[in-house]
Amino acid sequence: MNNISLKVLTKNDWHIYKLLRLQSLSDSPDSFGATFEHESTLTNKEWSARLDYVARKINGLLVVALLNGRPIGLICGAIHAQEDQSGHIYQMWISPETRGLGIGQQLLTHIISWAKNEHVKQLSLAVTTTNIAALKLYQSLGFHEEGDLSELRVNSKLQTHSMILDISTTEY
Ligand SMILES: CC(C)(COP(=O)(O)OP(=O)(O)OC[C@H]1O[C@@H](n2cnc3c(N)ncnc32)[C@H](O)[C@@H]1OP(=O)(O)O)[C@@H](O)C(=O)NCCC(=O)NCCS
Repeated sequence: MNNISLKVLTKNDWHIYKLLRLQSLSDSPDSFGATFEHESTLTNKEWSARLDYVARKINGLLVVALLNGRPIGLICGAIHAQEDQSGHIYQMWISPETRGLGIGQQLLTHIISWAKNEHVKQLSLAVTTTNIAALKLYQSLGFHEEGDLSELRVNSKLQTHSMILDISTTEY
């Protein structure tokens, strides 16, 4: 039987984060501004530092999905020090063989509940305009497109949409 569970990562779990993040960048290069080429050069100390939210002056949450104990999905929520009313979602990824099972929705719902508890009023994220699966996923939870398009990364032909979710009034 397939058993899905969610795990909030701490600094000691940096190796799980490294594993999933590098898998995601290698699998879905057009979905992220960061690249596998760059991130694969990070030292283990730098991976661990990514989870040190106090040093980075952010309120962050990295959550992974586990299928029968095996890490297969990742999401990151962040509230930056200077903008306590709004939060951001980054690094959403589900391994190809476990897509379409509702795991992306579960991870997003977890981050939305966390952000609401932290008194955030609005969540935002960026999605590549050609990424229909991600656009539909975010729309299914009430996100809508807002603002101008941006380059995915410097010199990329791909563009991203900002998507916004107002969580101040809605129940999750
Ligand atoms: C986008 C992604 C995270 C979706 O994760 P997932 O676990 O497969 O999504 P879910 O099973 O939770 O799907 C929830 C809803 O999203 C939409 N959706 C998901 N995949 C879809 C697809 N391939 N086509 C159309 N709609 C899709 C549907 O509305 C779906 O609800 P339904 O199954 O009731 O129709 C996953 O495809 C992925 O990791 N893609 C590569 C990385 C990426 O693009 N990350 C996003 C960066 S912004």
